[in-house]
Amino acid sequence: MDGNGRWATAQGKPRSEGHIAGAATVRRITEAAREEGIRYLTLYAFSSENWNRPTEEVNMLMSLLVQHLSSELSLLLKHGIRLRTIGNIETLSDYALAALNDTLEKTAHCENMDLVLALSYGSRDEITRAVRLIAATDIKDITEKTISEHLDTSFMPDPDLLIRTSGEQRLSNFLLWQMAYTEFYISPILWPDFSKEDFRNALSDYAKRNRRYGNI
Ligand code: FPP
Repeated sequence: MDGNGRWATAQGKPRSEGHIAGAATVRRITEAAREEGIRYLTLYAFSSENWNRPTEEVNMLMSLLVQHLSSELSLLLKHGIRLRTIGNIETLSDYALAALNDTLEKTAHCENMDLVLALSYGSRDEITRAVRLIAATDIKDITEKTISEHLDTSFMPDPDLLIRTSGEQRLSNFLLWQMAYTEFYISPILWPDFSKEDFRNALSDYAKRNRRYGNI
């Protein structure tokens, strides 16, 4: 969800305003995804590297998350949207973790769509944790399936489409294993400005792609 900071700076506002506008986009794009029948929407909300940001910004992001978890709960339940997380969520503060666990439990029965928040997420960290988990078992015949099943994303299929906003052209430690055959869509639009129409344009572009998975 790149571009919150740049969006705020361009308007002479503090970065926090960009994150607040970014959180409104989370709701808009979740709605758009639901309307389009997307089964899994994964949002990179906070990376393991984001901990290096100033404490004030980290705290602001955490309280924004907690605020939104409680304000969006009724909507999630109304539309049967299950909240999920990937990442090392134990590193979140106690109050953020408590709010998160509460929403995870309350939406656990929802079956229409999964909204997956990557929180304190880093793909290399995820793969390292998966390898440690496998090493602690007595599995001898380690296959690609074994690895997939020990990643945080074991409950979902690999993503079909990656949308990267604000023109960034890198993976930034996101779903490195899972995106082996994912289609990329790079949009110059900053995340706070990303509209439902922009989202639908990305889907239309994706629909024209010819996915060969290494075949001819
Ligand atoms: C990237 O923009 C955005 C983030 C690191 C934070 C995104 C988090 C939220 C919008 C919080 C709310 C989350 C939910 C799920 C309600 P940036 O700060 O890197 O912007 P820049 O690239 O312009 O500096």
